[in-house]
Amino acid sequence: MNRARRRFSKPLFDRRAQLGCVPVLRTFASLMILSAAACRRDGAALGGAGGGAGSTGGAGGGWLDGGSGGEGSEAGMEAGAAGRADAGADVGRDVAVDVRRDAAVDVGTDAAVDIRRDAAAPDGSADAGLAMTLKSAAAQSGRLIGAAIGASHLSEAAYVTTAAAAFDFVTPENEMKWDATEPTQNVFTFGSGDAITAFAQQNGMKVKGHTLVWHSQLPDWVSAITDATALHDAMINHITQVVSHYRGQVIAWDVVNEAVDDDGESLRDSIFYQYLGAGYLDDAFNAAHAADPGALLLYNDYGAEGAGAKSDYVYSMVQGMLARGVPINGVGLQMHTGPADTSPSPAQVAANMERLEALGLNVVISEMDVQICTSDVDTQETRFHDIVAVCVAEPLCLAVTVWGVPDKYSWLNGVNCATPQPLLFDDNYGPKPAFSGVLNAFLGL
Ligand code: G3I
Repeated sequence: MNRARRRFSKPLFDRRAQLGCVPVLRTFASLMILSAAACRRDGAALGGAGGGAGSTGGAGGGWLDGGSGGEGSEAGMEAGAAGRADAGADVGRDVAVDVRRDAAVDVGTDAAVDIRRDAAAPDGSADAGLAMTLKSAAAQSGRLIGAAIGASHLSEAAYVTTAAAAFDFVTPENEMKWDATEPTQNVFTFGSGDAITAFAQQNGMKVKGHTLVWHSQLPDWVSAITDATALHDAMINHITQVVSHYRGQVIAWDVVNEAVDDDGESLRDSIFYQYLGAGYLDDAFNAAHAADPGALLLYNDYGAEGAGAKSDYVYSMVQGMLARGVPINGVGLQMHTGPADTSPSPAQVAANMERLEALGLNVVISEMDVQICTSDVDTQETRFHDIVAVCVAEPLCLAVTVWGVPDKYSWLNGVNCATPQPLLFDDNYGPKPAFSGVLNAFLGL
């Protein structure tokens, strides 16, 4: 791990010194930018080429001038950074400080709620004497530890107790998706999503909304649209209504999910890309920012956690968005993965995080699970440990979320094998070796 810390202090640190800012604040304070965006701008997604250079991004910090093209974006980012830092002071800083202060507080109060692994591990890694919860260990590293929560399980006492004691960051597994929140056009149903935000508030947990624009779990009326303007208006209205409803209840949003094709050659051929072109991502982020300027806005994807064409595509896509002044604050790396020797390697993940951080973006591990159809719980422990340890070593990695609580409710059951046991708790809510792996990684062990 120390190797990662040493690697971190190289160019990225120089760049940060160059930018002269406190790391996290820069991204939170991304953009006090509102911009109405026209439909369909080809080429908008990559590197700032095409698309009304400089037209998006709106007001704020003078960085619009540099909105298009590489060199422009560089200059724009410098100027913008200053603008963002100022603009962000009110918005971003509160959220950033808020996140970390609350997390710190948890250390104390939750000591009583004790989910610890009795009997220290042979290497003495988990000190049996120390009552340590997962979220208090994460708080010690200044990060959040989260889980995907399903509203249908909130009536199960063991589920609620375990989730509330172990995690301080919630992502609704399905309840804030388009099919759940707007099943009929302009008729919004927030019941199940509200149940999750209420659960979070009752337990001092923060919430990340998931997800506003995704090619999957779309209601039929959206999939049936065949007119660009109608689709654009429906998308903007959906984002505006959902984000406004949860304003002040969520600290972050997965604004766009899985928009890049698996081959990393282009954007996924979704209805949004077909009718709106690459510019739909910029429009979605601008609309989300307009509806809640204080929320952290993320692009979320899988298969782009480490090295490779898809990871490179995501990198240049978000770089282009920043250059055009789009209010994007970070990238979610889903991390649905397998045993320790599975790609991406921790080193590849670290390198990818560092290049995203060098753009001034936050990163989060957003949906981690480690399926072990053909492996074992100890190998799984190592994988969880090593990936979480990378996040702990990267200053702009804000949180790790696992995609569920007990193995029995995982989306992976029956996918690659009947019982992949991919999570931190077994079917009886007993913490698994994977739990220790994550705990020890947060403790720097
Ligand atoms: O709500 C219906 C219910 O009315 C019906 O009785 C039941 C029976 O078929 O299905 C229920 O819908 C299911 C929904 O989860 C809610 O439980 C869908 O069939 C099922 O496909 C859906 O699965 C979700 C999947 O996304 C959909 O793509 C998983 O729970 C969820 O874990 C998974 O999460 C995604 C992330 O959002 C994005 N990244 C990948 C990740 C894994 O696919």
